[in-house]
Amino acid sequence: MNFIITMITWGMSLMSSSYTNNTEPIETVIYRGLDRSVSQTIQMAKKLENEVDKLPRTIENGKLKTINCFCWCSGFFPGELWYLCEYTRNPQIKKYAKLYTARLEKVQYVTGHHDVGFMLYCSYGNGFRLTANKKYKKILEQGARSLSTRYNPTIKAIRSWDFGSWQFPVIIDNMMNLELLTWAGKETGDKTFYNIATDHANTTMNNHFREDYSSYHVVSYDTITGLAERKQTFQGSADESAWARGQAWALYGYTMMARETGDKSYLEQAKKVASFVMDHPNMPVDKVPYWDFDAPEIPNTPRDASSAAIMASALIELSQIDKSADSDKYLSYAKEQIRSLTSPNYLAEEGTNCNFILKHSTGHFRGNSEIDVPICYADYYYIEALMRLYKLLGLNNEDK
Ligand code: GLY
Repeated sequence: MNFIITMITWGMSLMSSSYTNNTEPIETVIYRGLDRSVSQTIQMAKKLENEVDKLPRTIENGKLKTINCFCWCSGFFPGELWYLCEYTRNPQIKKYAKLYTARLEKVQYVTGHHDVGFMLYCSYGNGFRLTANKKYKKILEQGARSLSTRYNPTIKAIRSWDFGSWQFPVIIDNMMNLELLTWAGKETGDKTFYNIATDHANTTMNNHFREDYSSYHVVSYDTITGLAERKQTFQGSADESAWARGQAWALYGYTMMARETGDKSYLEQAKKVASFVMDHPNMPVDKVPYWDFDAPEIPNTPRDASSAAIMASALIELSQIDKSADSDKYLSYAKEQIRSLTSPNYLAEEGTNCNFILKHSTGHFRGNSEIDVPICYADYYYIEALMRLYKLLGLNNEDK
């Protein structure tokens, strides 16, 4: 009951107030977001420095909840450190980036689920991009081989999960694992990785989307015929609803595949998904979505800041790939999301929030898990979006 009253009060205050200062120069917003990310992330890194194998995930019962490397979220914190290392060139942050990345070494052999792409590409992928460390490259290549074992040539997709009663479940989130494969295709010259990624993206494009370009969360395939057998949700409000983070993964996934392949069909798909989310009547005025666009409790239900951060990062990239008149629209929308996330409504004060950066994300509402809390992947995509803007606008931390 208390939770519902809190949600209503908080939701109403966001609906009615003017919560971002749209006259503040975007550069100031970007520096505030990145500098707060630096101070919070250094504190978090110090806190877990001597806790062998631990990585931060969220807050549970008022306390920091950590995970080990085998959780799907393990790569986000090392990835944050690499982006902040890029921003600051601070040797202390680099030391932490290496330390926390090394905690994921065993992930390269994981074949029991699809999340290896998230885990390794955010951590070792960013580390390799910035250091060209040969050990990181070998680990990423092994990770790509492990992920590829989950590809089914009849279905032409990568299997997401091994639990549940589905024959061959594929979730929209799985689009995010493909960047590890396109990277491995380029680095090794082995086209198999690239072909698996494009097959998966094509199969998902054919089966996951409704006429309005919203995405189902889970599509299960018949392993004999290769055809879709069930279309459902796992984390959304209902099978036919548009779970916010699923839409964000779809937008990011097809934008990334358009960049990686130059294929116009992926670009068109990303643009259609962008229209669905940007024009949705249930998108709040601050452009931070509720956890599901069709949640029956709207407006008295939690937001998901992680979806806004993922969307913003994707839209910044989409604005650079798309050469049409829509390009400016994507960039403006992403900047508005970043303004909202960098306002006191979402950005944690220094030293609060157990040293996570953003407040108000929702992991699994229906599972009664991670509701209206900070979550590491919200922080990762927020920093990524800030860094994309930082580079796009030609900013330089040393000149500020
Ligand atoms: N991939 C799991 C999630 O987005 O919650």
